[in-house]
Amino acid sequence: MKERLILSFTFLLAISTVAFAQEDAYKGENLYQLKCGRCHFAYAPEKYSPEEWKIIVNEMGPLSGLNEDSEKIILGYLTEKAAMKERAALPTSPVLAGYVYTEFFSYENKVDTFDVHYLNVNIAGRLHQRVSYKAEFEFEHGGGEAEPPFIEQAYVDVWLLRNMGVRIGAILTPFNRFDEFHGPLENFLVSRPQMSREIGVSAWKEVGVNLHGNLFLHNDFYLNYDAYVINGLGSGSRLRNSRQYRDNNDAKSFGFRLGGVIADRVEAGVSYYRGAWDDDGDFDLTMYGFHLMGKIGEFSLFAEYSNASSKNPAPIEKGKADGFFIQASYLIDGKFRPTIRYGTLDYLDQGSLLGRALTDYDTRVIAIGLNYYLTRVIVFKVEYDFVQEGPRKTDISNNVFSLQAAFRF
Ligand code: HEC
Repeated sequence: MKERLILSFTFLLAISTVAFAQEDAYKGENLYQLKCGRCHFAYAPEKYSPEEWKIIVNEMGPLSGLNEDSEKIILGYLTEKAAMKERAALPTSPVLAGYVYTEFFSYENKVDTFDVHYLNVNIAGRLHQRVSYKAEFEFEHGGGEAEPPFIEQAYVDVWLLRNMGVRIGAILTPFNRFDEFHGPLENFLVSRPQMSREIGVSAWKEVGVNLHGNLFLHNDFYLNYDAYVINGLGSGSRLRNSRQYRDNNDAKSFGFRLGGVIADRVEAGVSYYRGAWDDDGDFDLTMYGFHLMGKIGEFSLFAEYSNASSKNPAPIEKGKADGFFIQASYLIDGKFRPTIRYGTLDYLDQGSLLGRALTDYDTRVIAIGLNYYLTRVIVFKVEYDFVQEGPRKTDISNNVFSLQAAFRF
């Protein structure tokens, strides 16, 4: 199974590289579309003022492999086309952004429901030539007692070099890529892959320090890296329940993510995490993962594999989890986006013997979706998920139909 996965990753990587590493006119708009349109639509230049674009390019540049020349060209293009009226002339004024999404889920085996999944507001700015910040607030499922407002991220970046910074504060843990893509424009479907929800773990906030940046090796190749020390995940079984600012031991966790980007079109990377999960700091949780993202013309490909294993006190067996997803998507006419994703999750941890809930997932999901973009920042999505139980489980009727309306401001 694992060999087959690694083989398919390598195969996909090879095809996409050979077929699409072609020359582009590295100028203005083309360069902007190429560098800044890989992960999301390249935002309309008129959306921000020149000062705001400086802040955004400072924040997004390290993700995009900009060297001094390409940064100048892109900023030049954006500044020329930017909003005439400067909304924020002071370099320290924050850029305000955010998103909202509302969903409707129809389950075969649960109550059908409308959900205001997220209201997310973020501000970002620069305080000093070498210091920038971002603070992101999140209201999930309408807030209230069960879901109080959350800090999704709140950090300062201290830039040691142009492309190397130390990020301090509350961060999204750099493990694989999907977590950073859970917003409604970056995630092309309504649902998240089962694997990313349970291992990895999507929307995994942590407090700590992360050294990050990129490294140019060639015009058509750069590396992105993250190396971090954080509080780490707690209770062991059901990783999803042990994230979000809960620290239970003196042992700190560490990890890294390393990715290579070829011709601004294909990114492949590995992630690793290790840290003790129990109160005494004796039992380690180890995770690793691989990700592959490609954007070639209007075709996007995204695949990830994650693996977690947590030591348990004898005689309880290790908790083990792994899963993958592979997703293909095509943008037609800038308006319609059909997407298909196949994902698996196999996760068994006898945490019940330690007094916790038993974690036992064994599912495969085929998700098929269609998005309609009224503009680049307003999207309506419809999706159907065929959910199948794996060999450990008996099949039940639990397919899901879902709708989403989302916008970014
Ligand atoms: C590796 C993927 C990636 C690349 C490359 C990238 N972005 Fe982004 N961008 C993101 C993600 C993920 C978000 C959502 C961030 C969030 O919700 O916190 C985002 C959000 C944004 C936003 C919305 C406002 C905000 O601050 O959240 C703007 C504007 C933006 N990017 C501009 C750019 C520009 C300009 C470039 C090129 C210099 C770029 N991006 C390159 C991943 C990327």
